Amino acid sequence: MPLDRRSFRRALSQFATGVAVVTARGAAGEAVGMTMSSFNSVSLDPPLVLFSVDRRALSLPAMVAAEGYAVNILSRRQEALSNQFAGARGDKWRDVAHAPGHAEAPLIAGALAHFECAPYAQHDGGDHVIFIGRVVRFSARDDDEPLVFFRGKYRTLGHDGQPAPDWPLPIHY
Ligand SMILES: Cc1cc2nc3c(=O)[nH]c(=O)nc-3n(C[C@H](O)[C@H](O)[C@H](O)COP(=O)(O)O)c2cc1C
Repeated sequence: MPLDRRSFRRALSQFATGVAVVTARGAAGEAVGMTMSSFNSVSLDPPLVLFSVDRRALSLPAMVAAEGYAVNILSRRQEALSNQFAGARGDKWRDVAHAPGHAEAPLIAGALAHFECAPYAQHDGGDHVIFIGRVVRFSARDDDEPLVFFRGKYRTLGHDGQPAPDWPLPIHY
């Protein structure tokens, strides 16, 4: 039986995520960037991360061909940037301060963390393409909080997390 698309999306939206903007340089040197909630860690050794890109995205050809990309993890102050990079292509870089990272992929100022990646693998992900990047450099800061996406809305963290009483958990490796 086919899944009901709307309920499937609603169920997926119960998984709270952060928000990233993934950037790269196209073959003609143009900067591309897309708001992305599908970012995740994959492996520590080698250091790998992943995100998945809709096959309809205008940035996809540039991302597929790029020699590197950057994952910019947005802070709670960067909601407007998230909307800007989810919108029409032409306006995306208006007033966005950035510096070149690995393979010239733009590193966005004010991000909570940057992961500069070399392409490691691309996989079929149905109507998305799954990108796995090998992290060649990263930076992070602890002085602000993340932008959170949950049930189709932006959120911020309500309170400081409390460690579990028996932290660290008895994970066997
Ligand atoms: C919070 C949020 C998360 C998103 N996550 C993804 C994602 O993981 N993958 C994706 O392909 N698009 C995602 N999008 C949609 C893209 O950012 C949007 O379609 C983008 O404008 C496509 O850019 P392009 O067509 O100019 O390349 C997300 C949008 C928002 C607002």
